[in-house]
Amino acid sequence: MKVTIIGAGNVGASCADIISYREIASEVVLLDRKPGLAEGKAMDIMQCAATTGFSTRVIGVTDDYTQTANSDVVVITSGVPRKPGMTREELIGINADIVKSVAENLLKHSPKAVLVVVSNPMDTMTYLALKATKMPKNRVIGMGGALDSSRFKYFLSKALDKPIGDVQGMVIGGHGDTTMIPLTRLASYVGNPVADFLSEESLQAVAADTMVGGATLTGLLGTSAWYAPGASVAFLVDSILHDRRRMIPCSVMLDGQYGQSDICLGVPCIIGKNGIEEIVKLDLNKSEQDKFDKSAEAIRTMNLDLRNILE
Ligand code: LAC
Repeated sequence: MKVTIIGAGNVGASCADIISYREIASEVVLLDRKPGLAEGKAMDIMQCAATTGFSTRVIGVTDDYTQTANSDVVVITSGVPRKPGMTREELIGINADIVKSVAENLLKHSPKAVLVVVSNPMDTMTYLALKATKMPKNRVIGMGGALDSSRFKYFLSKALDKPIGDVQGMVIGGHGDTTMIPLTRLASYVGNPVADFLSEESLQAVAADTMVGGATLTGLLGTSAWYAPGASVAFLVDSILHDRRRMIPCSVMLDGQYGQSDICLGVPCIIGKNGIEEIVKLDLNKSEQDKFDKSAEAIRTMNLDLRNILE
C-alpha cells in the first residue's frame, strides 16, 4: 500500500513519520519542491527503522511526480503555513494555485487515489481540489474535522481531569477559528453526557479553546502546528487503507445533506477504502443547525475567491 505526501514541511514529515512508525502503509513517497528537503526528511525517518523496528519504505523526491505513480492515497500539505496573526482565510490566494497544480499532477500518475487535503483554508482547498480535478466526490477528503475533534477531546479531558481515551466528541462545520462547531451537547464521558460533569461555563470555555486551537499554537510556535495535524492525517489514511470504516468528521462535498449543497464542509463520515463511504446524519438542534448554516455562508463567501482560478 502506497501513500504519497506532497510537502515535506513539518506537517508532511510528521505524517510520514507516524505512517511509517505505525506501519500504516508499506511505502511512503515524500515530495517537495525544495531540492533535498524531502530526500533529507525521508532519510532521517528511515534511519529510525533500525531502532524503532518498522519495515515501511520512505523515499523523498524533488518534484518528481513519476515516483508517486499508483499511490492508494495522496495527501496534499503544500502551501504556505500560517504566520502569527494571519487567518487561514488569508492564505487562500497563495495556496489555491499551488493546490490546483499539485492535485492535477498527482491525478495523472495515480488516477484511482483517494485525495486528502490539508492545505489551508482547508474547506476551500478541498472544494478547489474537487472542482479542479473533477474527481468523484467520495475520493476527496478535507482533514480538518479529525484534527479539530482531537483538540476538542484534549480540552474536554483537561476540563474533566480524566483520560482522553474516556472522552468522545466531535467538531463539525468549517476548519476556521469562527466557523468550527464543537458539538458540546453530544460530547460524552464514558457514555454519559459531559454536561453532567461540567458546568455550562466550563463547556463554553472548552468550545472556545477548541475553536482557536490552531491559532493558539501558531502564536506559541510562530508557525502552524504539526504533531496533531500529522497524526490526524495518519489516522485518516489508516482508516482508508485498512478499510476500517471509522466515523471521522471530514470536510466533504455536500449534496443536500445538512441542508447544504455545492460546498465542502465538516460533517461526520464513515471513512473506508473508497474514501467517504457514507455521510452520517446527525440530529442537530436548531442552534447547532443555525451555526452550521452560518459556517456554510462564511465558507461559501471564501469559495467565491476561487472563481478566477477555476475558470
Ligand atoms: C491547524 C492547521 C494545520 O489547525 O490548520 O493547526
